[in-house]
Amino acid sequence: MKICVTGGAGFIGGNFVYYMLDQHPDYDIVCLDALTYAGNLETLEGAMKNPKFKFVKGDIADRDFIYELFEREKFDIIVNFAAESHVDRSIEEPEVFLKTNIMGTQVLMDACRKFGITRFHQVSTDEVYGDLPLDRPDLFFTEETPIHTSSPYSSSKAGADLLVLAYYRTYGLPVTISRCSNNYGPYHFPEKLIPLMISRALANESLPVYGKGENVRDWLHVYDHCSAIDLVIHKGRVGEVYNIGGHNERTNIEVVKTILHALDKPESLISYVTDRKGHDLRYAIDPTKIETELGWKPVYNFDTGIQQTIKWYLDNKSWWENIINGDYQNYYKKMYEGR
Ligand SMILES: NC(=O)c1ccc[n+]([C@@H]2O[C@H](COP(=O)([O-])OP(=O)(O)OC[C@H]3O[C@@H](n4cnc5c(N)ncnc54)[C@H](O)[C@@H]3O)[C@@H](O)[C@H]2O)c1
Repeated sequence: MKICVTGGAGFIGGNFVYYMLDQHPDYDIVCLDALTYAGNLETLEGAMKNPKFKFVKGDIADRDFIYELFEREKFDIIVNFAAESHVDRSIEEPEVFLKTNIMGTQVLMDACRKFGITRFHQVSTDEVYGDLPLDRPDLFFTEETPIHTSSPYSSSKAGADLLVLAYYRTYGLPVTISRCSNNYGPYHFPEKLIPLMISRALANESLPVYGKGENVRDWLHVYDHCSAIDLVIHKGRVGEVYNIGGHNERTNIEVVKTILHALDKPESLISYVTDRKGHDLRYAIDPTKIETELGWKPVYNFDTGIQQTIKWYLDNKSWWENIINGDYQNYYKKMYEGR
């Protein structure tokens, strides 16, 4: 079995590469990644020596390159993580989100049709469902919840999802889609909430929290996301969407305070900044379908998972310090200074 993991130099794709090498040592894993600002080859250092792993640099939207690669490699399964994934960046510069997230997905699926595969799996997000009100804790996203996006990022992911389902219906391409809630864990790029707060707290710098920090996210450990995708690509029904979430809802301010307490830092480091435009209030996944149909169960709960994650960032400082010392600083200034 040969699996192409696109976007494998990013956060979740990188964890998925390690998960698959560990769980399926007989599989060949090829990571295809354009190494944008979010792609980091250091994340894959531990896989590079494995003879069952190969890294290929390239853009999923580059049709000639993708066709050549598919012809040469003869993949069985494609798991498409490659995406522009940061909501704030999508508000500043939407175009590349449409190019990578929609057009790139289309190029990959055209290659799948041309060269044949047994499964194309699209890694999507619960953000395609929009948000839920804060005063209705009884409501959850199911696979039947209408698509209702808020940001250019979620709109581009929703566009890709619709295209994936259209390729199933129109061409019979064997596709599956998973829509996951917010992930946390090792190798998370340091501009995302949890690693950003850990790195700034360690440096005794202010922790910027949007609005009042009341927005609710449903946190899932990246390992549990990987195990769910592994199940979907092997046992999921083609043409189906599977929601993935672990019922770990937390407000942003709860998450930030948990990090401060774990690092023994004062809450006075918190600095409330002007809210994100169109900020989604609450995400909450109903994972009943994947649990009952495929027998998936998360192994982490947030309280232990977050402590292990904080420890990982303490033990792997050079990984995130190398990122922070680069272009990231300019980006940080543009997004947060003067707010
Ligand atoms: N992070 C989350 O909490 C979360 C939750 C649900 C779904 N998702 C989805 O999971 C996927 C992975 O998310 P992530 O957080 O790991 O993202 P990430 O930004 O950390 O990684 C994305 C990777 O894709 C690569 N990439 C970007 N454009 C590319 C292109 N044109 N061609 C090839 N590679 C390209 C980047 O170099 C990077 O390595 C995304 O599709 C995202 O929408 C993420």
